[in-house]
Amino acid sequence: MAIGMQEPTRKSAFPEDFQWGIATSAFQLEGSPNADWSTWDPVLSDIPEITNHYAVFREDLKLLKELGVNSYRFSIEWSRIQPRPDTWDEEAIAHYQEIIDILRSYNIEPMVTLHHFTHPRWFLERYPWHRTASVEKFLRYTEKMVSTLRNVRYWITFNEPYVILIGGYLDGCIPPGLRDVPRALVALKNIFTSHGKAYDIIHRYIPDAQVSIAHNMSVFAPWKKWNPFDRLLKKSANHFYNHSIINAFRTGVFIVKFPFSRVVQIEVPIKDKLDFFGVNYYTRIHLRFNPFKKMGVELRHLDIDGHGLTNIGWEVHPRGLAKVIRYASRLNLPIFITENGIATHDAEMKVTYMKQHVDVVERCLKDGLDVRGYFYWTLIDNYEWLQGIDARFGLYRVDFKTLKRYPTSAATYYAYLIQSRSKI
Ligand code: GAL
Repeated sequence: MAIGMQEPTRKSAFPEDFQWGIATSAFQLEGSPNADWSTWDPVLSDIPEITNHYAVFREDLKLLKELGVNSYRFSIEWSRIQPRPDTWDEEAIAHYQEIIDILRSYNIEPMVTLHHFTHPRWFLERYPWHRTASVEKFLRYTEKMVSTLRNVRYWITFNEPYVILIGGYLDGCIPPGLRDVPRALVALKNIFTSHGKAYDIIHRYIPDAQVSIAHNMSVFAPWKKWNPFDRLLKKSANHFYNHSIINAFRTGVFIVKFPFSRVVQIEVPIKDKLDFFGVNYYTRIHLRFNPFKKMGVELRHLDIDGHGLTNIGWEVHPRGLAKVIRYASRLNLPIFITENGIATHDAEMKVTYMKQHVDVVERCLKDGLDVRGYFYWTLIDNYEWLQGIDARFGLYRVDFKTLKRYPTSAATYYAYLIQSRSKI
């Protein structure tokens, strides 16, 4: 435990049934030979099984028990379930069922993500999200999972749809690697239509299911407060990145407006298709107007509050979590912090990050905001999409040569935090 991090004895604002969790994604732990991402990033040719979690998952799940969490968010690797369009891999399905069964035997509530960035290669090649057929393919997979897997109540259809769209269709840094606004808009419509329809399918099979997406939310700030262009960028980014999804779930219409361009409106069948709202929060981003950059914007991470920058250069900004929780509360639904975490080799920094963010959640609870769960990202060091294997988000350190896991003091601290804050 970190010095000075002992908890004073006091009444906790966390309700007894608060979901204390860990979040992971399948591909980042276990890779997959048939996933689009396996061939996309050359780093993966040396470590195709990444942490070898697919083989040693039983041991890894024991770590959850050690931590004392009561919830676990994980994803199903679609490319393992459906390696070819006409093939369901029953062994892979049984594998994920075993994870659920083990969690249940530990009294840990599973939260299953159906889509966490990766796809079967055939899907990306033949039915990428900018083709209408993508919707039907995703729904077949969804129906197969929902009709087969037992004892799952919490479902996340898509992890961070905007990251898929920005990375895959505007910036080109993730598959399918395009920079194509018209296709991005079609893909947006197809992804959210898939969510709306998947919501109905899940409820058809599991009437008391709780269904959401996990939305990546950030706090934005102008690089220079006095600069009207920077301020305008901040306003637009906040509207688009944080609010347009929330508004679309309330109205069924996406309204996207960027500075100096026309307003785009897209109707999508998602009005009220949510039972809770999943928020992934990590950082604050400063925006600088720069006409020589793509879309006139430069992203900056500044250590303004002195909390430091992470291993991958992100600003630590705990107060921002309260802001995004307030934004999300406009939906009048229970909120889950479905991801929050820090990349660093320094376990003490991880402890501080965790404490600061959990304190913010507690203050929000005291203010009457309806937060039901907090999921730390992540259990063990894993593969980070754009940074490879050295980002170090894990509570347990992984030696990528031997693949051994080692607890860090952040693991001890999280276990302690859960225990002390769960006290009534
Ligand atoms: C999220 C993403 C995770 C993980 C995390 C840390 O945006 O859902 O898969 O990579 O960021 O960067």
